[in-house]
Amino acid sequence: MSSAKREIILGVGGGIAAYKSCELLRRLQDLDFAITVVPTPSSLNFVGTATWEALSGRSVTTQVWEKVEQVKHISLADLAEAIIIAPVTADLLARLAQGRAEDLLTNIVSASKAPKFLVPAMHPNMWLNESTQENVKILKARGFEIMNPDNGRLTGEDSGIGRFPETSEIISKFLSQIGSEQDLEGKKFLISAGGTRESIDPVRFIGNRSSGKQGVAIAVEARNRGAEVSLVLANSNISDVAGIETIRVETAEQMHSVLKKKMPDCDVLVMSAAVADAKPAFSSAEKIKKKEFNSIDLIANEDILADLSSSANDSQLIVGFAAETSDVEESGRAKLKAKNLDFIYVNDVSDGAIFSSDLSAGFLISSEGNSTPIEQTSKAKVARIILDNVVSRLSYANG
Ligand code: CTP
Repeated sequence: MSSAKREIILGVGGGIAAYKSCELLRRLQDLDFAITVVPTPSSLNFVGTATWEALSGRSVTTQVWEKVEQVKHISLADLAEAIIIAPVTADLLARLAQGRAEDLLTNIVSASKAPKFLVPAMHPNMWLNESTQENVKILKARGFEIMNPDNGRLTGEDSGIGRFPETSEIISKFLSQIGSEQDLEGKKFLISAGGTRESIDPVRFIGNRSSGKQGVAIAVEARNRGAEVSLVLANSNISDVAGIETIRVETAEQMHSVLKKKMPDCDVLVMSAAVADAKPAFSSAEKIKKKEFNSIDLIANEDILADLSSSANDSQLIVGFAAETSDVEESGRAKLKAKNLDFIYVNDVSDGAIFSSDLSAGFLISSEGNSTPIEQTSKAKVARIILDNVVSRLSYANG
């Protein structure tokens, strides 16, 4: 999977609901977050280090005294874009409210400037206890986002407010907190990604260096923001992502036919695939022998984007891509115009570094003439910038 992922920390407090955080971790991974789990020492009574290491695929420590040379409380605090702690106990709330820093998790919280999202779960008597409520108030005033526990059956016989909320509830609140607003809900996205291959013979093909990472990052971001996403993916080794319909193709012709069929049903087309401009005039069924392999006659592939754009309706929004090695911005503007696009993201591929990389740099140019330079950043960030612009254009169009 692409590692253009958003880094977060999942803190786990010492309550029985710690076992439910295993599921929370899984669902957050489905959303393509890269997650470091930081349990409190007491939470290991419920779920042990081995479980968290196996599920997260990362090493797990609870104290600043382990792996001291890595200065983990600072490096993790700097790395994480957000911290979610679930469950949070009454004791952990009290420690956080006091700004204490005696284990790795509380050290990270005190060193981090990232948004912090707490999911308390405890017995109703403890939740409603004045000290606990006072601590909640203090933390809220300091900018912590704190979810209310659910009402219902508790660990023992009794019931009341204090239950760990449903995982989907937690995730939807967490996403809105860290900027994944559901601002694309109800919108249908058709996204192409990867690089097409044109067969020369059963062994050889004409292809390109596209990995599909940028298109997949856009698909993931669109899904996270509530869109219904179909991804037409050419020759990429990126595995299917939950919640995204993925159709795999090989050639430009196959890609064209899938996109053409799906185009009438979409609100936004994002054409990030690298489509081979030409294909062999003749694809041999037999492997061509070395001594006969001197030249390849080519015929042009149809320009898929130009074709889809020419038959698009006024309400459909189209984002094209370009890869340029010189006159990057100017070439981007020319293609935007020639193919009648709403936006074009033009990659600067002059040093070849973009392909397969998790980073990208270029310009996002709009049909209104605005050009936003994008300094080298993650493909996930580029995806967010592109979709922020798409959202503004859609809301402008809807009046
Ligand atoms: N594209 C397409 N079909 C093609 C070629 C390109 O749909 N046969 C799309 C790409 O997916 C991209 C955009 O057109 O969104 C620009 O692709 P690019 O290869 O940079 O531009 P070309 O128009 O092919 O121009 P050139 O190769 O001459 O720079």
